[in-house]
Amino acid sequence: MTVDTITEQETIDGVRQIVEKIGSTRANLIPILQAVTNNFGYISETAIKEISTRLNLPNNEIFSVATFYRMLSTQPRGKHIIQFCESAPCHVVGGREVWLALKSALNIEPGETTPDKKWTLLTTSCLGVCGIGPVLMIDTDIYGNVKPEQVKTILSRYD
Ligand code: FES
Repeated sequence: MTVDTITEQETIDGVRQIVEKIGSTRANLIPILQAVTNNFGYISETAIKEISTRLNLPNNEIFSVATFYRMLSTQPRGKHIIQFCESAPCHVVGGREVWLALKSALNIEPGETTPDKKWTLLTTSCLGVCGIGPVLMIDTDIYGNVKPEQVKTILSRYD
């Protein structure tokens, strides 16, 4: 399902199913928001309203949580999410050069999505694999010891 083809009713039905599966208490809010992001690419206004009804929580509380965590998004994201580690251990082993190569290849700033909706570029703190820095993650794939000249080849592996 792509972001462009999701109807309001599909969002409502999808959110209902997610809430039924995960549970409708306040403690389940983050897992629900994560599942909605995974399923629909982002947390739309319709999704927020439906979660609000199901969990009996105010819209603005859900919006605050949805915008606080970097792994969640209230904006449509690209088909592939790139997370670039910006923590110091990766930075000092060449992360800055890889980051510049990445931004130049995609021609977008952190937090943005390419106009063709293929890529969303995010920065992240340590991904827990500092020994192989600089590190970037595309969807669930981790790339370590990345060199600036490898960036385009890595991106070309994705449709
Ligand atoms: Fe980059 Fe830990 S600092 S993975």
